[in-house]
Amino acid sequence: MSKQFKRTLITSALPYANGPIHIGHLAGVYVPADIYTRYLRLKGEEVVHIGGSDEHGVPITIRARKEGVTPQDIVDRYHELIKKSFEEFGIAFDIYSRTTSDIHKKTASDFFRKLYDGGKFIEQETEQYYDEEAHQFLADRYITGTCPHCKNENAYGDQCEACGTSLNATDLINPKSTLSGSVPVMRKTKHWYLPLDQYEMWLRQWILEDHKEWKTNVYGQCKSWLDAGLHPRAVTRDLDWGVPVPVEGAEGKVLYVWFDAPIGYISNTIELFPNDWEKWWKDEDTKLVHFIGKDNIVFHCIVFPAMLKADGSYILPENVPSNEFLNLEGDKISTSRNWAVWLHEYLEEFPDKQDVLRYVLTANAPETKDNDFMWKDFQARNNNELVAVLGNFVNRALVLTQKYFDNKVPARGTYNEYDEQTISEIATVRAAVEKNLDNYRFREALKEAMNLARIGNKYLADTEPWKTAKTDMDRTATIMNLSLQITANLAIVFEPFLPFASQKIKDFLQVNNLKWEQIGDLNLLLEGHELGEASLLFEKIEDETIEKQIQKLLDTKKENEANEYTPAPIKENVAFDDFGKLDIRVGTVLECEKVPKADKLLRFLLDDGLGKRTILSGIAEYYPDPQELVGKQICFVANFEPRKLRGLMSEGMILSAQDADGSLSVIQTSREVKPGSTVN
Ligand code: MF3
Ligand code: ZN
Repeated sequence: MSKQFKRTLITSALPYANGPIHIGHLAGVYVPADIYTRYLRLKGEEVVHIGGSDEHGVPITIRARKEGVTPQDIVDRYHELIKKSFEEFGIAFDIYSRTTSDIHKKTASDFFRKLYDGGKFIEQETEQYYDEEAHQFLADRYITGTCPHCKNENAYGDQCEACGTSLNATDLINPKSTLSGSVPVMRKTKHWYLPLDQYEMWLRQWILEDHKEWKTNVYGQCKSWLDAGLHPRAVTRDLDWGVPVPVEGAEGKVLYVWFDAPIGYISNTIELFPNDWEKWWKDEDTKLVHFIGKDNIVFHCIVFPAMLKADGSYILPENVPSNEFLNLEGDKISTSRNWAVWLHEYLEEFPDKQDVLRYVLTANAPETKDNDFMWKDFQARNNNELVAVLGNFVNRALVLTQKYFDNKVPARGTYNEYDEQTISEIATVRAAVEKNLDNYRFREALKEAMNLARIGNKYLADTEPWKTAKTDMDRTATIMNLSLQITANLAIVFEPFLPFASQKIKDFLQVNNLKWEQIGDLNLLLEGHELGEASLLFEKIEDETIEKQIQKLLDTKKENEANEYTPAPIKENVAFDDFGKLDIRVGTVLECEKVPKADKLLRFLLDDGLGKRTILSGIAEYYPDPQELVGKQICFVANFEPRKLRGLMSEGMILSAQDADGSLSVIQTSREVKPGSTVN
């Protein structure tokens, strides 16, 4: 028997304010959190949704340094951009604040101080890398060196990106400070640690025994952390960006970003409700739910609960419905490689289509495993589901009412068996959607909501009001009345998922203030009620539009490959005489064509100044139109031993350059020269 709560406090992971947000953020955290919030609100429950930007941490300082601005400049820029994206996508936060606010700094500082005074931390001195030129301790990210595993010379102090191993800065061979380029030295420094090992037994009971209902991906990750054994974790850092450690002798130290950020949930609640925030955080009747992505699981299920427990006056999360990751067209989303669909760009390219993205990201949400966003799937779901099912039904209900009943809700007569059948199907929808939403299964919930539109479409197909209108207006009135009631039901059931479309339907119907409990009610619209003006709910997305997006990604891929290209190492030196043995010449291309039945081969006929010569070259795939080479002056090895290929004699070798992606490009002279000229 699950506990009954009086109110729900929903939090969404605070995104780092060091870049814009993309579809992965939406799919993983913000859309599900928003659906859940809207659902509870529509049910009339007491609920708040807390959000904000995470504005501390080393990556922000690195970005600022790169751009030559202050960390505050960086977070100001991205906080505004992120906040705007959320607003535009209808993510209904009650507050979206930031961890550089004064309230937050005070809240986080007080939180630390209370634990400090209560003796909840361990103080420990360790040796850490220090940059004597820049006069500061170095975060792991600020140190580069050679990876001990793969010998990559540009590994970071926390991770080698070449082989993926996570490292400690002290593992690096030949460490170097990225601040000054100098060799860092070891220096003693003092930090405060939260002794997670002391909370291990309690966490085992609380998660592994008392919360077996958590999603299996979340439960499983917690179990493996707990089984591996917990260790004390430093909650302070030597850094000049963050919340200062409120202890004497801690100058130049700040709270670790993962200590202060989750406290941001509390600070933002205080900012929202300065007088009665405590009922949201300190009353057992409040249900706390954290929406996060999978890389945040350990912090929200283990570290933050241990902090709250150490304080002793806070409630703990009831659930942490974390999603897995969303990939993009088969590859991991990556900010640095620009492999993402950015929300602000999407809105420019697909204006007014927020709900299409919300729909696709929910229908395809990475709820139990990583999933892919594919543009073709986006198009198919829009065209075959939103347009063909939901939009089509709503449009027909409205247009037929306009046509036959002067845009007023017609009176219904007695229901026949078709109607009764449909009504009994509708009766199951609410429970089916609720059961899934209550268990954080948003994909399934959306499917059940969509089922109502399918029921509607089937009803119209079975009853054919456009035919009955010729013979029986009473019957037609009943059909249209029921269709409009279904339409009103759609406005309710889709409100959490597609708030913009839901509002549009309400405008079409000229209704408002519908409540979740009214799903299933088929008397929502009164007889004679006048409807508003209808327009299309969704529109078809053409191939061309999708191909443009795919091309954009292909371009990004190409650019990345070029950027990441490291030319092959230079070969061993050769003597002048050895080089002189090669006879490289310029020839003019007289003919160039594919060799029949040999996919890769092009046959060149060259004017080499002395006569004509045939050379075969395996570059056909890079020259789909070989004619483009005719007339060009190209380089070839003239004394390359002739050999037979596919029954043809090849007298020499054409020289080509190999690009980063492996493609080949024939070498040309930069000015016109006589055929047969030597190349030295
Ligand atoms: N900024 C973190 C991330 O993007 C999430 C912080 S969640 C909070 O991974 F709990 F710390 F706020
Ligand atoms: Zn490595």
